[in-house]
Amino acid sequence: MTALDARLSALHADDSSQKALVDLFTHLAQASKDVSELIAAGGALGSSVGEENADGDQQKALDVLADDIFLEAARQSKVVAAYCSEEQEDAVILDESAPLVLAIDPLDGSSNIDVNVSIGTIISVLPNPGGDLQASAMQPGTHQLAAAFMVYGPQTTLFVTTGSGTDLYRLHPATGVFMLIDEAIEIPEETSEYAINASNARQWFPATQRYVSDLLLGVDGPRERNFNMRWVGSLVADAGRIFNRGGVFLYPGDQRKKYESGRLRLIYEANPVAFLVEQAGGSATNGSDRILEIQPSEIHQRTPLVFGSKTEVRWLGSYEAEARQGHSDSPLFGHRNLFRS
Ligand code: AHG
Ligand code: MN
Ligand code: MN
Repeated sequence: MTALDARLSALHADDSSQKALVDLFTHLAQASKDVSELIAAGGALGSSVGEENADGDQQKALDVLADDIFLEAARQSKVVAAYCSEEQEDAVILDESAPLVLAIDPLDGSSNIDVNVSIGTIISVLPNPGGDLQASAMQPGTHQLAAAFMVYGPQTTLFVTTGSGTDLYRLHPATGVFMLIDEAIEIPEETSEYAINASNARQWFPATQRYVSDLLLGVDGPRERNFNMRWVGSLVADAGRIFNRGGVFLYPGDQRKKYESGRLRLIYEANPVAFLVEQAGGSATNGSDRILEIQPSEIHQRTPLVFGSKTEVRWLGSYEAEARQGHSDSPLFGHRNLFRS
């Protein structure tokens, strides 16, 4: 079994510009171990600190603690020019001459902190584009040099890509080393499992309603087979399951105020997950367009996010296309959908 640092060094031994990635991930891996130990030790980590983050979410103690830990890791790595975090209104400028920009969701799944459900950290690594470093993270996802997410669950796992496939590591508790357990993961093209927060059904736009309605009709509907549903409420946990056994994840836009573009943030949630998913043979869109090609216009902007098994992402795209053309009476939509008369 190979350790993470050995793999990273071997991948880029001959390429000095990639050495920065090795230095960064060495520091980030240690930071994720520190966060994992904090979580395992418990305490009032899920208590609100009485502040809101830039996106208006209540900040939990662990959100802030994890942000402090990863910011310090970025600073110690000496290769990060700007640190762009869900928990920071603006980018934290560290060293303008450093080669990398780090965009991060330090603690994903905050609503699950106090109930011992898997939570995680999501990481996107971009090149330093120069110029105004406050705007440095606003690059399309195709510019990413690396992406990763950690899941702090029954096991602490790490999914990572540097553009040559997505690998899975597991933290070995006794040695504290991330060991490679699955190399070049492949997400199954087909699936019978979808993940969506079904409590928002009445708020979804027609394409989502009709897609899910047809899944629920099972063998009696146009899909002619039954589907299963899972929703953890931690993007990293749902994503980890999809890498493991396939599936499709949807956080679409809906009619709630502030949710027209869904809940998930493009730069430090959707883009890194999309890079990892595509490197594992899956797809990631906003319902219609490839996530990685979206040009961000501000650090905390949201995007609808659909990712996972290629076939289901494509199916949803066909419902979106039909809805755009207004052909709600097509064979696909000929029936009344479960959520609307
Ligand atoms: P965060 O805790 O970083 O704000 O992320 C939570 C996200 C994501 O992890 C999860 O998929 C989604 O919020 C759950 O949203 P709902 O609570 O609306 O289902
Ligand atoms: Mn998150
Ligand atoms: Mn978060």
